[in-house]
Amino acid sequence: MQYLIKDDIYYVGVSDHKIKLFENYIPINNGVSYNSYLIKDEKTCLLDTVDEVKVNQYLKKLANTLNGRHLDYLVIHHMEPDHCALIKEVLANYKDVTIVSNQQVFKMINQFFDLDIENKLIVKEGDILDLGKHKLQFISAPMVHWPEVMVSYDSYAKVLFSADAFGSFGALSGNLFYDEVRDVDYISEARRYYANIVGKFGNNVVNLYNKIKDLDINMILPLHSYLWRKDFDIIINKYLKWATYMPEDKEVVIFYASMYGNTEEVVNNLAEILANKGLKNIKIYDVSQTDETYLIAEVFRTSHIVLASPTYNLGIYPKMANLIHAFKSIGIKNRTFALIENSTWAGCSNKLIYEELAKLKNVTILEEKVAIKSSYKETDHQALENLAEQIIEDIKKEV
Ligand code: FEO
Repeated sequence: MQYLIKDDIYYVGVSDHKIKLFENYIPINNGVSYNSYLIKDEKTCLLDTVDEVKVNQYLKKLANTLNGRHLDYLVIHHMEPDHCALIKEVLANYKDVTIVSNQQVFKMINQFFDLDIENKLIVKEGDILDLGKHKLQFISAPMVHWPEVMVSYDSYAKVLFSADAFGSFGALSGNLFYDEVRDVDYISEARRYYANIVGKFGNNVVNLYNKIKDLDINMILPLHSYLWRKDFDIIINKYLKWATYMPEDKEVVIFYASMYGNTEEVVNNLAEILANKGLKNIKIYDVSQTDETYLIAEVFRTSHIVLASPTYNLGIYPKMANLIHAFKSIGIKNRTFALIENSTWAGCSNKLIYEELAKLKNVTILEEKVAIKSSYKETDHQALENLAEQIIEDIKKEV
């Protein structure tokens, strides 16, 4: 079968419905797609390859779609192995194909593979690859998500091949376009993909957006997940929020750690007080039970974050410490934090968490802090009331 998308552009990507860990650490429940495209113009041009686990399926699809035609070009937008793993196999099957990419990609090809590439075309920002009617213009997109990344714009078809940008987790199930599916998890998974894969590089995403925003685009074709031919605002507006670290929802998320259930009881009480005061969509997560990639995504979504941690070995509870370390590493900013500690002796987690959060840019740490001794008691209620009041007051503030 040949899967025509539009104007001589065919989909030759594959989906892995079985994969459980993306990059061998991020849990994914609905697989992932590795998108690859073939343009059949006067010249034929393959845009990226796929992960090596799908080698046989991919080479069959490519051969079927070429349908006897010779492959002239292979464009590499991104050298991460989920997209470039099959360069060698493509070269073996289409011996005189010309590899087209930038200098950094060719350097990385040598790092990953022992390959002697005879036909190569080195391109840079603004260069155009002429395929006939289709002309691919290259736009560098460093650090979205690796330094060598580029995207390309087909001025004939008005298509942006956007590499990792505007992608998501999730395998495709026949329907390629977002407008063909009813996928209620999509935004959550796109957020989790963004936050954990590209999240650290918000400025670079904004730079890319500024380069493409005036192009006449009627299709966005990323390397992962759905393709876009309408309603671009859905994904672009989300990406811009995430890239500028601006919260989507003025809501509260509570992350807690609890060894024996006492800190859990405290945050349950806080959540009920907040709900009783009218706050909606409060979310509570046990940092020991929920994979950190989901928590990071929630931080990108939400404006107000409560951290409730036992003091542990005169420090921060390890899972909580890891999460806070991730905030720093990803560069989280523009958020409000509230702190709760629990200790049986020598409580210090509020102080230590405060010191770590204070290193983030443009964050507010609420004055009211709650310190529990071992277990929640009615005498702790007023402190929680005070904290809840301050959270609500802060949420009501105009940004
Ligand atoms: Fe899907 Fe950065 O590779």
